[in-house]
Amino acid sequence: MPSVQTIETSQNELLWVLETRNMGYAFAWNKQQRLENVYWGAKLPYPTDYAPRPIAFDPLGNWNIARSTYEEFPAWGDYKFNEPCLKVRFSDGVRACLLDYKNATVTENMASTTLTIHLQDQHYPLKVRLIYEVFADHDIIVRRAEVENTGSEPIELEQILTAALHLPRHESYQLTSLSGKWGGEFQVQRFDLPRGKQLIERRRGSTGFDSNPFFMLGADGKSTETSGDVWFGALAFSGNYKIVLERDAFEHVSVSGGINDFDFRWLLEAGETFTTPAFVAGYTPQGYGAASRLLHAYENQHIVPRETASQPRPIVYNSWYVTEFDVRFENQIKAVELAAKIGVELFVMDDGWFGQRNNDRAGLGDWYVNKEKFPQGLTPLISRVNELGMDFGIWVEPEMVNPDSDLYRTHPNWVYHFANRPLSVGRNQLVLNVARPDVQQFILGFMTDLLANNNIKFIKWDMNRHFSEPGWAEAPAGRDREFWVRHTQGVYEIWQQLRQKFPHVLFESCASGGGRVDLGIMQYADQFWMSDNTDPYDDLFIQEGFTLAHTPLTRMMWVTDANGINGRSYSFEYRFHLAMMGVLGIGADLTKWSPADLDKATAFIALYKEIRETMQFGAFYRLRSPRESALSAFQFIHPSGNEAVVTVFLSQSQFGYFATPIRLEGLDPDARYQVDGWDETWSGQALMQRGLPIALKGSFVSQLIRLVRM
Ligand code: GLA
Repeated sequence: MPSVQTIETSQNELLWVLETRNMGYAFAWNKQQRLENVYWGAKLPYPTDYAPRPIAFDPLGNWNIARSTYEEFPAWGDYKFNEPCLKVRFSDGVRACLLDYKNATVTENMASTTLTIHLQDQHYPLKVRLIYEVFADHDIIVRRAEVENTGSEPIELEQILTAALHLPRHESYQLTSLSGKWGGEFQVQRFDLPRGKQLIERRRGSTGFDSNPFFMLGADGKSTETSGDVWFGALAFSGNYKIVLERDAFEHVSVSGGINDFDFRWLLEAGETFTTPAFVAGYTPQGYGAASRLLHAYENQHIVPRETASQPRPIVYNSWYVTEFDVRFENQIKAVELAAKIGVELFVMDDGWFGQRNNDRAGLGDWYVNKEKFPQGLTPLISRVNELGMDFGIWVEPEMVNPDSDLYRTHPNWVYHFANRPLSVGRNQLVLNVARPDVQQFILGFMTDLLANNNIKFIKWDMNRHFSEPGWAEAPAGRDREFWVRHTQGVYEIWQQLRQKFPHVLFESCASGGGRVDLGIMQYADQFWMSDNTDPYDDLFIQEGFTLAHTPLTRMMWVTDANGINGRSYSFEYRFHLAMMGVLGIGADLTKWSPADLDKATAFIALYKEIRETMQFGAFYRLRSPRESALSAFQFIHPSGNEAVVTVFLSQSQFGYFATPIRLEGLDPDARYQVDGWDETWSGQALMQRGLPIALKGSFVSQLIRLVRM
């Protein structure tokens, strides 16, 4: 069956049915001359099952004042009151937009099918194209919208979301979303969706920790990690976003998402088109875990940069927690020797190598090598790194500037600011206006020099403050609020160009830890620094939330020494097992490790190299949540199905507590598996039904169990 069908119903309505392996999604240009959603959920057997059906009983009769619209892309201006996707102002002052259906086109791509619905304002020269890209194998539809001014007068966009999604009416919905803070990113929250609006949004310029542009919805309290209907979605945008979940008095639940309209204006001049970021939406009948795996597979195959998508991520050493701003040739070279010895593949020098950057109060923006710290420049260090068989990576924070820097003294106008108003600093820094073409050129220029003149294979791109006082006095007339979007577009454009020029360089998105993690920047970033909090117990929780929406292939964590965060120290096992669940790094002072410690680390790194394909590219299962049990467990299955790895973490044992077995998932029931620590083989079914007995006791102890299919 084709994944997009256009059907003329017996009522002469036009119906589009989008189908994937398990999902059906249907909408119609109906009798009321509206493009309305009919259904989204489990796939139905017959095309007629998707036909619009009148509601049996309408308590409000023709008094439809309270009913909200099921429109796919509600434009504001007539008798409807829920969240609009489009709100415009035409040059004559009219602010109502009424869209008519024109036609639809379908194109087949390599891995997807695209349906485009062409709409046109009834009176004004405004065209809207709704684009639905159907990824049948992933149970995912990616929506985008384009708005084109085909007239000769400018049109002002006051609000433009990507899409409205509508869910079938249920007694209740449970919303899962992410919220957090620095050092406690990606915390999972799940609660009953109340009537009214729930807002997942950002108004500070970048993705942030306090929320993430992502949602999952389960229905009637029946959805679990392993079963039940789950609708999910994520926005591919790293600037101000907004996802509005609206539940009305009639159990109509809709999810509208896109660029935040807060302080937003966009001037659409004659002939111009505005394209929204993508809103990725999917459905599974198999619970939250399956929803995450659909997202992970889609991200691995269609979002993370293509050139490096199938390249195993290298094992990183990072200097930050060891030397902080005091990076110098002498201390780095010592770390280089030891890192190479234990098997590190990529040596990354963090903050402190440039300008007068001796602390966070100065130097940011001055991207020349500090000659006191590196009298011969970076070459001797990089050469030694390369001689020892490692690649070299470096930290930058290009969108920011310290007031105490040559850059700021030369270009005070380059930062966001309002005239006659004081400027706030955050971490002693200000935000450069990356909407400005000259700022973009500056960043592209110094980054190109840095990468062209040094053998650098990895960039850690940081971004450590929120936007405030966001004035742009020199903006083209009528465009001073476009920076909310243009800044992010500028960053994407720079990354895109750098990737083109330097295709073998890996990019990590950092932003104080997980502050810019989303499907937008993921198109350019190979990986994310998940959190500055490297306390492995805390990371169990951060990891759980991160993986709800984001693939382990992009999740970077380091093994560090005890740090000030909780003042706790952990065994090597516990730290390594945690850091291995994705991309492994080391951020510890190797000069203080004993020869025995270095040997242990060498063994862990060697082990990681053996299992890394499973940990980075495998299917990921959250077997038991740290939110629910002192014993949490995770599982990775190699794409071939031939190997699996289970990691188990016990935070505290209590006398008499006898851990229940860990039931594995996703195995071939009839296959036999060789399991670490057992002489007899297990069938997949036995591992999934009886489960693996776990005999851990103590505090913060862990185990990594490998399984090989016979
Ligand atoms: C941020 C990052 C850290 C480190 C510092 C350097 O806080 O999250 O990992 O790079 O900046 O200043």
